[in-house]
Amino acid sequence: MKFFLDTADLAEIEEAASWGALAGVTTNPSLYARIGGKLEDFHAHIKRICDIVDGPVSAESVAMTRDEIIRDGLELAEIAPNVVVKIPTMVEGLAATRALADQGVSVNMTLCFSVPQAILAARAGARYVSPFIGRFDDISEDGLEQVGNIVQALNNYDFSSSTVNGEQIEVIAASVRSANHVTQAALMGADIATVPFGVLKKMVQHPLTDRGLESFMKDWEKVQNA
Ligand code: E4P
Repeated sequence: MKFFLDTADLAEIEEAASWGALAGVTTNPSLYARIGGKLEDFHAHIKRICDIVDGPVSAESVAMTRDEIIRDGLELAEIAPNVVVKIPTMVEGLAATRALADQGVSVNMTLCFSVPQAILAARAGARYVSPFIGRFDDISEDGLEQVGNIVQALNNYDFSSSTVNGEQIEVIAASVRSANHVTQAALMGADIATVPFGVLKKMVQHPLTDRGLESFMKDWEKVQNA
């Protein structure tokens, strides 16, 4: 499993990148709004993220018609070679994904909540598909089960003839709210988990690691004073 950071916050991205295990970043309109992002600065902000991260950076189109999404997507793809255009799973989004994939632009199909949606995304040429976990949990349904189903269903077929450069579509477990979501998504075979910085920090921690570290330090002090 690879880890992406789900944020538009540059300080978080710089910090996570310095840990050596970051493979990419996903943003969305809400995450950009959360950092006080302004419309006129959006492309420059995505460029800053792309300069920090050595890996795919998802930038979302907010257009609603296929022609607008395609135009948006082509502009976003011009920002940097590692930009991935994020497009919601809807009819206009599928049509735009096909057109962008045919022009060599990588797409991350977002807001995916079902197996049929994921298969349609794959057939339309998406490079990534993002099933959301937490938002299912928010309505008392099992988001992890959907991730498992989507991984299993996509593994049943070869979609390489549909995607950019014949690359296999990868499943990004998204809307991750806890380290346990990451554990379960990894066991189910999700290729990537995109996680908020708070979850990434929790993923590093374990109480037994803390306890073990404390006892090693104490014993080392004894060695120094012996
Ligand atoms: C995915 O790429 C989305 O940006 C994100 O994971 C949404 O998460 P949320 O449901 O916590 O907003």
